[in-house]
This record gives sequence, C-alpha cells and structure tokens, in this order.
Amino acid sequence: MARRMLVAGNWKMHGVGSDLGEITAISMAAETENGVDVAICVPFTLIERAVAAAPGFAIGAQDVHPAANGAHTGDISAAMLAEVGAKLVIVGHSERRQAHHEGNAETAAKADAALAGGLDVVVCCGETLEVREAGEAVETVCDQIIASLPGSVDPSRMALAYEPIWAIGTGKVARPSDVAEMHAAIRARIAKEHGPEIAAQMRILYGGSVKGENAAELFAMEDVDGALVGGASLTADQFVPIINAAKN
Ligand code: 13P
Repeated sequence: MARRMLVAGNWKMHGVGSDLGEITAISMAAETENGVDVAICVPFTLIERAVAAAPGFAIGAQDVHPAANGAHTGDISAAMLAEVGAKLVIVGHSERRQAHHEGNAETAAKADAALAGGLDVVVCCGETLEVREAGEAVETVCDQIIASLPGSVDPSRMALAYEPIWAIGTGKVARPSDVAEMHAAIRARIAKEHGPEIAAQMRILYGGSVKGENAAELFAMEDVDGALVGGASLTADQFVPIINAAKN
C-alpha cells in the first residue's frame, strides 16, 4: 500500500487569535480530496480555538509531558491536549532537544504518553552541522531516531521527521542526494529493528526551510513522505502551495 503524504505545519512560538483565519484558509484548501493528510501544530493557547476555526481539520501540539499528571509546573499532559481537541503532537524537535536538554529517552517517553493519551505523534531527529561535516550524519540520526521511538511502533499512529538542524529556519535546504540517502537509511534501520512491514508503512517527513518553491523536488523522492514546515506554515499563501506540491 502506498504511503499517504503528510504535510504538517509547526507554528512554534507564533500565533495569536488574530492568526486563526490562516488556519481556516489552510483547512479549506486541504479539504479537497487529494490523498494528502494536512495538520498544523499550534501553541497550546490556540489549540481549542484552532479546532473551532477549522472543524474536522487536524490540529496538534508541539510538546507533551511523559507523565499523565503530577507536580510539573508549566507542563501539559496528553489528556489535556486531547481534551481540547488536539489530534497529534510533535516530540523530540531539535529546538526542545537543544533549548530544554531533552534526550532520546525523554522523547520516547513523551511519544509513549502521547499514544497512550490518544494522540498521534511526529518524532523528530536531525544532525548538527558539525556532525554532518564530520561525515557522521547518517549513523547519528539513525541511532537517534531508533532510541527516540515509543515502545509500540505503529505507523498508523506516527510519523518521523528528519530535520537537519542547520537547515531549520536558515533558508538552506539539505541537498536532494543527502535527503534521499538519509531517508533511505532511516527506513532501512527501521526495517532492521522493527521489521520490513512497519518500515514500508512508516511516513518519513523532511523538515528544514521547506517552501512552495522547493517542495516538489523533495516530494518526488521515493522515501520522502511529506514535510514538517516551520516558517512557511504560518500563512495560507505560503503553506497551500506546499500542500499542492504533495498532491501532484
Ligand atoms: P523551517 O521550515 O522554518 O525551517 O522550520 C522547520 C522546522 O523546524 C519544522 O519543525
């Protein structure tokens, strides 16, 4: 069975009530029957209003705590996210790994909590420029993703996102040959650890300066099953062309 493309937006720490019109516009463009799954992960404060602004459209969060509840000031649980209508959550983004010192084990625990709470997950991985220049990117990223996976690896409930850190928000996209090599290596490693069937169904997204202008080239690659988009997901004008590129 062919994998459905997934184009997910990550609004990061952007978005207030006056931006909800963008979500409505994106959801309307995504509604046409095209075989592409579309989602937007917004700040916690916007989840409930984004769900109301785009009924039936997949709204997600950008982080979740591994515990179901407890004394965790400032954190949020999967049940809280599900209650306000979130359908998915991003875990292990490099901005959380770097700024909040989150490691692979914590990322895996977050993914477990999300799945147990009824949310789908996007598990992120990616190398620094230093690691890429040392020629260690493929091995590093494959080790990172395997160690970040939840206990139950179900491709119908999750996707992986390869986001080279040096390509995030920089306008620098990884070379097509490097993306192709990395995605194929991740799939091969999933096959080795979790079996060929799971590997064949697992969606592997690319993230890092994806725009309307470069999306088609990325999506044409065999092992690229969509994108995780930061800056260009903030407006319908920039995000809809990426969705359209996934359709074709
Ligand atoms: P940009 O698309 O802004 O480079 O961000 C990528 C990203 O980090 C998505 O999670």
